[in-house]
Amino acid sequence: MILKVGPCAMSLKTKKIEVNSRQMAYFDCGDGPVIMFVHGFPLSKQMWRAQLDALQDSYRVLVPDMPGFGESECVDGDAVTMRQYADHLIQFLTKIEICEPISICGLSMGGYVVWELLDNYPDRIDQVVLCHTRAANDDETVARGRRIQAQSVLQNGTASLIEGMIPKLVASQASDSLRAEVQQIMMTASSCGVAQALGGMSTRKNFMNETNSLAFDTLVIAGKNDTITPPKEMQEMARYLKGARFQLIDDCGHLSPLEQPQVVNQLLREFLRKP
Ligand code: MLT
Repeated sequence: MILKVGPCAMSLKTKKIEVNSRQMAYFDCGDGPVIMFVHGFPLSKQMWRAQLDALQDSYRVLVPDMPGFGESECVDGDAVTMRQYADHLIQFLTKIEICEPISICGLSMGGYVVWELLDNYPDRIDQVVLCHTRAANDDETVARGRRIQAQSVLQNGTASLIEGMIPKLVASQASDSLRAEVQQIMMTASSCGVAQALGGMSTRKNFMNETNSLAFDTLVIAGKNDTITPPKEMQEMARYLKGARFQLIDDCGHLSPLEQPQVVNQLLREFLRKP
């Protein structure tokens, strides 16, 4: 696939590699210290194009599609836990011979995966960016809702889930073209990938009581109009993370990298250790 925007994107091609006996698709662009971006649900690596474009002159930017999303194949199983996604990412990094600590940026579900990376692979991580995510797990009502959604997606496909999600993902003032772009990205998710992620999110670990012991240089990004991960909850989470910086972005819902790419790029440039 060849993308249409920006200098890097002009020549950017999706790479593929076998991880856990499945094809995993990713972008790998630029040179320098490594930063890896982990997309939210039910999105893909395409949501980070503006960040890839902005950072690839100073950093090596890795952007995988999680199993079952974008162009990556599904793995086996009814559900994929956040820990399994984290293991998958570590196997991916090892396979492409990146064993030194890297910076990691996760959005929402990507953030849930980041907690597992910090908990289980602290030696592989340097700086951390958490966008629109939470440390707490699902309560039983939310978890049950996800299990019902997973069944429905497997039986009827992803269309109605996608339709229901768009208004919640972006701020009300978002343009029609941004909404269309988000929809297009979500339409590449497979039913098996979506159902597996729903199952995995419904049983994820509660990291709320562990944030204090996870000592990483961290930037927390919230959107003023985010109704999925409200800024108040994110600010509370940031308070428990030792020395974390908290940034609230105006005119922004749940998807700051797409809704306010210039602001996010600027925050990343200021935060990330210089090459
Ligand atoms: C996401 O954006 O990844 C989802 O909103 C996460 C969730 O459903 O908890």
